[in-house]
Amino acid sequence: MKLLILNGPNLNLLGKREPEIYGTTTFDAYFVSLQGKYPSIDFEYFQSNVEGELINKLHEVGFSYDGIILNAGAYTHTSIAIGDAIKGITSPVIEVHISNVHSRESFRHTSYIAPYAAGVIAGFGMKSYDLAVESFL
Ligand code: DQA
Repeated sequence: MKLLILNGPNLNLLGKREPEIYGTTTFDAYFVSLQGKYPSIDFEYFQSNVEGELINKLHEVGFSYDGIILNAGAYTHTSIAIGDAIKGITSPVIEVHISNVHSRESFRHTSYIAPYAAGVIAGFGMKSYDLAVESFL
């Protein structure tokens, strides 16, 4: 099974960024543990702070991979273009968030991705990604 984990803006700062919200684990350290936990899954990881690069990646893998786990960061709440990209590809996309976006500012309650996602997982810390992986098993 081939899965892409796609992280959007500011998620390269995990471990340093607002640790009271996002924790102290870097994504690289977490990704190593995830690969160890699911040795049968072929994971790819890509992160970008650039909206168009996230869209290009969705187009590149979105007709061949078994699934995409997407944390689009703040683009979740603003990007019609990422929503359209998900609508246009065939691989199922799970929207994930580390924090519980629904318990935060009201602008985080809107998602342009959720209408086209196979599911949404939010609020379980880094475990949100594990739960998304589990959904593909
Ligand atoms: C986030 C929540 C978003 O609102 C925020 O802009 C992020 C991270 C999360 O994982 O909790 O960058 O997607």
